[in-house]
Amino acid sequence: MRDQGSWDIKTSVGSTALFVAAARGLAARRPDPIAVDRFAEVFCVAAGDEWAALFTGDPAATAEHPLRSADFGIPFQNFQAARTRWFDDYCAAAVATGVRQIVILAAGLDARAYRLPWPAGTTVYELDQPLVLEFKRSVLAAHGDRPVARRREVPVDLRTDWPAALRAAGFDPTAPTAWLVEGLLIYLSPAEQDVLYERIESLSAPGSFVGVEQMDPIDPEVYRAMLEAQDQPGGDQAAWASLIHNEPHSEAVAWFGARGWSGTATKLSDLLASLGHPAPEVPAGFLMPGLVSLVTVAKG
Ligand SMILES: C[S@@+](CC[C@H](N)C(=O)[O-])C[C@H]1O[C@@H](n2cnc3c(N)ncnc32)[C@H](O)[C@@H]1O
Repeated sequence: MRDQGSWDIKTSVGSTALFVAAARGLAARRPDPIAVDRFAEVFCVAAGDEWAALFTGDPAATAEHPLRSADFGIPFQNFQAARTRWFDDYCAAAVATGVRQIVILAAGLDARAYRLPWPAGTTVYELDQPLVLEFKRSVLAAHGDRPVARRREVPVDLRTDWPAALRAAGFDPTAPTAWLVEGLLIYLSPAEQDVLYERIESLSAPGSFVGVEQMDPIDPEVYRAMLEAQDQPGGDQAAWASLIHNEPHSEAVAWFGARGWSGTATKLSDLLASLGHPAPEVPAGFLMPGLVSLVTVAKG
């Protein structure tokens, strides 16, 4: 059942932030990593339980964890690391044009405010559920870390009137913005996504950018099988499948293009291949690379 209320870092959609952070942390430990997010591991250790065990325990004890498996775990680690690198590059390209206002929608355990070399005068707004943001802030404060940029938390549900909260936090709609929409859209209905895009569009001055991770629907038969996998190994897949909206959503290049923006989509499979980590063939392996693409659009 999709959660219509609020959640923390270990429940409902909030737990997906820990899941992807764990994948980033594991990916960072591999030889010649695609991307290194040194904070991902810090969050997992602080979360305890299975998340900490992935990093602090006997590796043999977590060998069966889905994030370590050859058919799902390793390709998923590669996916998350490639996505991290893509959005890091997107941020660097945006600030190179003079953008100093960054808005991370569904920030989860994204630590870019602490991790990237932001120019002086950059403000990073992070939007997510209150308890998710609180977890991030308290863990990094206890770890002795301080943000590189000016960091502003905006605790909201992204299905409500978040622009008012963003403005109240100091956001300036007359200044160009780089928006990050990473790991969010499948948790919104198609209509909720369109409203989100309308709000982004109306808050974006010329010179703004939107970086989007989008995903085509999973084949209905495959999706049904995922939902029914509860009692089998890999039952986590069923919990995740029950959280997503597996319906066609507006395609970002087309949606923003119709409103005068221009941009391009990069298939995840092409990105992984360009990074030297081609995705496994479906159906033998992990299916997301064939469905996910990463989009940048710019408002002229
Ligand atoms: C898969 S995580 C991605 C987090 C981060 N962007 C990343 O890539 O590491 C999904 C995040 O979306 C947030 N989220 C999903 N729906 C939301 C909503 N309606 N309002 C606020 N946050 C939401 C969750 O709390 C969670 O932190």
